[in-house]
This record gives sequence, structure tokens and C-alpha cells, in this order.
Amino acid sequence: MISPEIAPFAKTGGLADVVGTLSIALERSGHSLSLITPAYRSSLAGDFPLEVTGTKLDVPVGDRVEQATVVRSKLGSEISVYLIRADRYFDRESLYGTAAGDYPDNAERFVFFSRGALELLRQQPVDIIHCHEWQAALAAVFLKAQGSRHAEVGSAKTVLTTHNLGFQGIFSEHEWPLLGLDRSYVTPQYLEFYGKINFLKGALVCADKITTVSPSYAEEILTHEQGFGLEGVLQQRAQDLVGILNGVDYSQWNPETDPYIAERYSVSRLTAKRACKIALQRKVALPPRPEAPLIGMISRLTSQKGFDLVERVLERLIDLELQMVVLGAGERRYEEFFAAAAKRYPNRVAARIGFDEPLAHQIEAGSDIFLMPSLYEPCGLNQMFSLKYGTIPVVRAVGGLKDTVEDYDPEASGGTGFVFQAYEPQALLDAIQRALSVFRQKRAWTALRRRAMNKDFSWDRSAAAYSNLYEQLVH
Ligand code: ADP
Ligand code: GLC
Repeated sequence: MISPEIAPFAKTGGLADVVGTLSIALERSGHSLSLITPAYRSSLAGDFPLEVTGTKLDVPVGDRVEQATVVRSKLGSEISVYLIRADRYFDRESLYGTAAGDYPDNAERFVFFSRGALELLRQQPVDIIHCHEWQAALAAVFLKAQGSRHAEVGSAKTVLTTHNLGFQGIFSEHEWPLLGLDRSYVTPQYLEFYGKINFLKGALVCADKITTVSPSYAEEILTHEQGFGLEGVLQQRAQDLVGILNGVDYSQWNPETDPYIAERYSVSRLTAKRACKIALQRKVALPPRPEAPLIGMISRLTSQKGFDLVERVLERLIDLELQMVVLGAGERRYEEFFAAAAKRYPNRVAARIGFDEPLAHQIEAGSDIFLMPSLYEPCGLNQMFSLKYGTIPVVRAVGGLKDTVEDYDPEASGGTGFVFQAYEPQALLDAIQRALSVFRQKRAWTALRRRAMNKDFSWDRSAAAYSNLYEQLVH
């Protein structure tokens, strides 16, 4: 697998969790695999064993040859993780850019990474190359377009997983020479996209199979509304496209064993969740009121996640006598909005701007309700973590949210959360109000929590679906 992020080496979002834990689940089910990822500054500084290998790679980038070395680490029991090291590309403050914007040489950085991965694979050929996201997408394109240049792996089959069509790797056509591909590939059938070049599109055309991260998202991306301009290409490949729901790594996200939370709890010992709530309220300096409903959010702060809806209902939420805790980083506009809200309503809203893994666990454990009103959501992990922690998700019916959260049904005593349809402030508010009315009925709320905690989204089922796909490719 080739991926720009793998937990624990580097992470900006769910992609890292998914590649890290899917790999381990695949190994458990009998596959032999290795992983390739960039050696970012933060990955080299991490707290895991790293071994400098003697391997040196000559990587063609445009008409130059760039050098790389390879650092090795391990995941699961036998999975080798190869970190491609080239400090001029990856020894930087962050993975893709800073608050000032994306790094201007991102096209070159990920041409280099994708080519470098193929160079490494020439030394240890594989049956299947599974690329994640636009940053690794060109590996599938290079292999298809220039099989003879990578003869040792030329017969490998390719899988591309798109985790989010909002990120495609679109660059000016002036970057074209970097790719070292024949001009015939800069046409609408391949990488050309409205006068620019689109790395993801190239792989959507060239990969043998395409996957995305939930069944609903696999359908949604075929539409004009959610295809981000690639719906046409995806429709042409619909036969080879499959949606496989992400799983959860319950060795990390489980209130019975979580080392970060104040007290551990389980379905049969739910009362200890109260201690987690009070600890959270103290930690984020909200008044420790066990009876006040506490809503948590943990997210990249981008418009994908529905923050403009939250902006529009905030005043009305404040009227509802609840508390909110938000952990996130991203667009300055939302960072400022939440910082200002916390300042204005210090007893109601707490905002932590930044990336904080322990606090993420404490919010999952300490909140009553978890809010994910996404505009679109390929899968989403936090709603699944929330279910396990008995923290009831309020979500919009889209993508993976729709596939994992069932709407509360008072008649049948069913459901695991509160689901709303329209991307409108009132619809969000209605869902929160429905949640609050059940929150006040202690018995119904406890039963709802128990149903949520009993849901199982462990990786084994998803790993079996990937295995199935790989089998189709090699037989
Ligand atoms: P996405 O990949 O679109 O960001 P997901 O729900 O799939 O959304 O995954 C997000 C992952 O990143 C989760 O593991 C979540 O806990 C984590 N995360 C997001 N923002 C933060 C943050 N500010 N601090 C800690 N963890 C975060
Ligand atoms: C993306 C999506 C998210 C998904 C994650 C892992 O970043 O936004 O919905 O869960 O990838 O697949």
C-alpha cells in the first residue's frame, strides 16, 4: 500500500487511521503486505523504532533524477513500513502546507513520492499495488502508462482508494513536464481537467479497481452534486467501483481500556461515564454540571464538516441550556468563530484549537452527544467512535454517516442516534432538540446508549471485503 499518511507515523485525518488499521487487519487475515509513505519531519521524530536501510533510490522527476533513501519501521507483527526519505521534499513543518496555504511544490513532492514508491517496488515485486488518495495516485498511472519502465512490477494490479473527492491534486498544466509522461496523457480521457492536470483523475482512469470508504458514498460520487466534477469518469468506471465501509480500531477506541480517560466504563458499567464528563468539563474549564447536556465535536475545521450550519444555530443552541466542547484545527474562519464563541459564552462553549489526541479520547468519553452535521462525509470515523463510547451521534444522513447511524425510533425502541436530512439550520436544530428530549428521559437515554455501544464496526468485515477485491484481481 502506498499512502501519504499512516498512523502512527503521520496523520491529519481519518486516512491515517484507516491505512494503519486496515493493514493490520489484512495481515491478521493472512495477507502479506508492506507499506510505503513519505518520511516527513514529524514521522522521523516519532516515538517508534526506525531503521536506516542501505537502500538508495534514483527517482526520475521531470528531466532530473532525485535521490532518496529508505527508512524502515514496522506495524502489526511483520508489516514493513518503508518511509521514503528526501529531506528537500519532506523535512518540513507540516505534511501538505501551512496556514498560508499549500506548499507550492506539492505537485513535484508527490510526483517524486509516487515514482519513488515504484522504484522501491522494483526491488521487491508485489501482486497488488494499493494507492490511497491523489498523493499516491500517480503510481497507478505510471504503471499503466510506462509498464516497461517499471518492468519488475509491470504486471502488478492496481487499486485506488479515494477517501475524499474534495482532494484531487489539481495543478497547472505547467507542471506537466514533472510527470515525464507522453503528451497523449494530458487529454480529457486521462489527466486533463478543465485546462489543468488532475492526479486523482488519472488514477480513476488507470487503476484496475477503485474503492471508496462507504457504500453510500460510492453511490453519491456518481452524481453531479457530489462528484466534484469527476462523476463522468466515475460513471464510466462504475463496474470497477466499490464502497467498503471503514472500520474502527477498538484496541485504541474502547472505553473499557482507553488509557486517556478519567475512568473506564462499559455497557454494564455505564455510571463511570459520569466521571469522564466531569473530568472533561474541568479540563476545558466548563462548569462541572453533570445534568447539563454536553455536546462534543472533534474535526478538521472545514466547510465539509457542516460548520456553517453550526455557526448559524449557535445562538439558539445557547438558549437550550447546553454545553459544547469543540476540538479542531483548519480554516481560520472557523477557528476564529469558535474561539470567539468560547470567549463570549465561557460557561457554555469551550474551544481547543489544535490537534490533541488525548483530548479527542476525553471528548468521546465525556460528552453526552457527538455532533457531525457534515455537508458530505465519505465515511467518518468519529461517529463510530462515539457509538462505542455511548456518546450519542447527531449526524446528517449522508455518506458513511448514513451507513453507520440509525435514527432513533421511540415506537420500536430502536436506533442508535439522531439523523437529519436537509442541509439546513432548522433541520440540525430539530435533531438536537429531539436528542435533548430523549436525554431528559433517563431510562430511554440509557437504553439508547446501550444499543449504540453494542454496535460493532470492527475491521475484520471490511478487511474481508478488501481481500475479496484483491482475489478478483489476481485470479
Ligand atoms: P476526516 O478524515 O475527514 O478528517 P474522519 O472522521 O474520518 O474525518 O477522521 C478524523 C480523525 O482525525 C479521527 O481519528 C479524529 O479523532 C481525528 N481528529 C480530527 N481532528 C482532530 C484534532 N483536532 N485533534 C485530535 N484528533 C483529531
Ligand atoms: C476522509 C473522509 C472521511 C473518512 C476518511 C478515512 O478524510 O473525509 O469521511 O472517514 O477519509 O477514509
